[in-house]
Amino acid sequence: MTALDNEFIIKRMSLKNRIILPPLTTNYGSSEGFVTDKIIRFYKERSKDVGLVIVEATAVQANGRIVPGSLGLWEDSQVSSMAKLVKSTKEQGALAVVQLNHAGSKISDIFPSQCYGENRRRADP
Ligand SMILES: Cc1cc2nc3c(=O)[nH]c(=O)nc-3n(C[C@H](O)[C@H](O)[C@H](O)COP(=O)(O)O)c2cc1C
Repeated sequence: MTALDNEFIIKRMSLKNRIILPPLTTNYGSSEGFVTDKIIRFYKERSKDVGLVIVEATAVQANGRIVPGSLGLWEDSQVSSMAKLVKSTKEQGALAVVQLNHAGSKISDIFPSQCYGENRRRADP
């Protein structure tokens, strides 16, 4: 057994191993910031092998999203959607924490796939 396979305790959290999925904005959220089936599938697959999932940047304000498909937790109705994602992660044996975020001057209302020409300059000033 390698060190990476060892259980890892952080305060009251017990991780099955020392591998952590860093926050990775997928742009798979709904336009209202809800968790989608595609997001669930993305994290479910990765949760099998890691001890902790850091769920991607999740906006605390509707106008603070990095991309239009960023997740959100700016209103109560979004909590149950996020809870579904956390539950699915736990079912694979990993724990989950959420990266709360406001993109500040880096907010974008265009999808990365549209970032070229004039759009590129708007998205990345
Ligand atoms: C497609 C993509 C999305 C990312 N999304 C986030 C994010 O939502 N939040 C964040 O803090 N970092 C984000 N990152 C940065 C990664 O977490 C970071 O690159 C990873 O932890 C590796 O660290 P390193 O770049 O210092 O080696 C993203 C990186 C990529 C490539």
